[in-house]
Amino acid sequence: MPKLVVVYLSTSGNTKAMADAIVEGAQSRNVDAKAVNFNEARIEELKDADAIAIGSSTFYYKMLPPMEKFIESLEKAKIKAKLGAAFGSYGWSGEAPVMIAEKMRNLGMEVIDPVLRIQYQPVEKDLDECKRLGKDIAIKLKKDTKAGSEPKRKDAAVSVQEVKMGEGGH
Ligand SMILES: Cc1cc2nc3c(=O)[nH]c(=O)nc-3n(C[C@H](O)[C@H](O)[C@H](O)COP(=O)(O)O)c2cc1C
Repeated sequence: MPKLVVVYLSTSGNTKAMADAIVEGAQSRNVDAKAVNFNEARIEELKDADAIAIGSSTFYYKMLPPMEKFIESLEKAKIKAKLGAAFGSYGWSGEAPVMIAEKMRNLGMEVIDPVLRIQYQPVEKDLDECKRLGKDIAIKLKKDTKAGSEPKRKDAAVSVQEVKMGEGGH
């Protein structure tokens, strides 16, 4: 089962509600997903994830410094996740998710575009959007897994053809 870790920083619970809904959406598509507060996130767990979503609310036109430090710590660790998503609640300008996405791209990750931003406390339709993002991550993860197994299928096709050609020669 592909693995998604959703890391968030949330001062009053708005971005956390988004994180929980993203997890719910991914789980409904058979992804092993969990949400963790950034200060409880373990690097070992993140190294093992196939996809990482990072969320932060916007404060003073950027993400809060502890989240920036957390993302820097990912730069030092060798994470295998190639797929990322950025999200966050905001009030009026909402820069944090855009900045997170940029940092994740600098880590070599493909980040789902556009980032997901919700103004203040998410209402039901906003949470549905978050669930949708979780489902989209699941779909992309499964496509990537299939793409990874394609060469094997091609090899199998070649060997079948070879047998047929051999048979034809007799
Ligand atoms: C001191 C302070 C500064 C803020 N600065 C910004 C800002 O620069 N841009 C913005 O879009 N929202 C800003 N906000 C609004 C928060 O991003 C918003 O309340 C958000 O819903 C908080 O989400 P959280 O509970 O996940 O932390 C600010 C809020 C506070 C209290």
